[in-house]
Amino acid sequence: MRHLLSVSDLSIDEIEKLVFESVVSPLPPRVLSPVAGSVGMVFMEASTRTRSSFALAAYRMGRHSIYLGTQESSLSKGETLEDTLDNLQAMGCSGFVVRASQQVDLHSLKNYSKAPILNAGDGMREHPTQALLDLATMWNKTAERSWEKLRQQKWVIVGDLKHSRVAHSWAILADRLSINLCFVSPEEWKPSFLLSGQQWTSDLNEALSGATGVIVLRVQKERFGSDEEWGEGSLKNFVSKYQLSKKVLSKKELFLMHPGPVNWGVELALEMKNYERSLLLAQVEQGLHMRSSLLNFFFR
Ligand code: NCD
Repeated sequence: MRHLLSVSDLSIDEIEKLVFESVVSPLPPRVLSPVAGSVGMVFMEASTRTRSSFALAAYRMGRHSIYLGTQESSLSKGETLEDTLDNLQAMGCSGFVVRASQQVDLHSLKNYSKAPILNAGDGMREHPTQALLDLATMWNKTAERSWEKLRQQKWVIVGDLKHSRVAHSWAILADRLSINLCFVSPEEWKPSFLLSGQQWTSDLNEALSGATGVIVLRVQKERFGSDEEWGEGSLKNFVSKYQLSKKVLSKKELFLMHPGPVNWGVELALEMKNYERSLLLAQVEQGLHMRSSLLNFFFR
């Protein structure tokens, strides 16, 4: 049984094909079929974009989806994720989209589930579909949509890398596809997941020089450990050194990406809402197509 728990679950060839399909020939909507297996969406953490785009993608692919969040399901009574998936499967779900909390490692379900699982965010571990939709958005903006040209560019990913499952999936994806991605964060958020040869710096300006675009990440306070402090002082310090504003990007003409949700006024200045080279909503639109392709690929 194939699952998408990590970006390393897809071959380079498959990644390039999925990107091509989702950008160049997004799958057309299908007629909703009561006999196509339903998609069970189990979310143990809040979500806006990932949840709605997967639900819409399932619908476009002719499948009904059913959503269970922790609060409105028996997960809140202590029922396990395994039991939840078994019950959904007994009702006809033939595939799952799961967002796991940090306490549950999706990889532990690898040999358990008889239906494919797509990782919709796994604690602080990985978020492969976000990295894949980001990749498709970048590739779409590359001259001639050439992989070779994309490999010659430099991209930057900046923010709270330590707690970011998006950054972790990106480290693996950049390594697999030989994309030049420079990781930037304050020293205390230097991630432990970087692979050999990957660049990290705490100097944002140095990293932005010569770059084609930048992916900005949210400060994920909800994931901070009890020993990690985030007071007024740390916020001011982060904003002054790492916030992207029109001034920081002046004359650089960089593409701007962010997986959302944005903390406006923290990692992005409010004025960046109308930044001409912002791809924030292009990412969201691409997310619908990439997730349609992924559902079609994994749920046969
Ligand atoms: C990200 C996530 O949930 O990991 N958001 C998303 O899926 N669009 C990033 C974040 O929460 O900051």
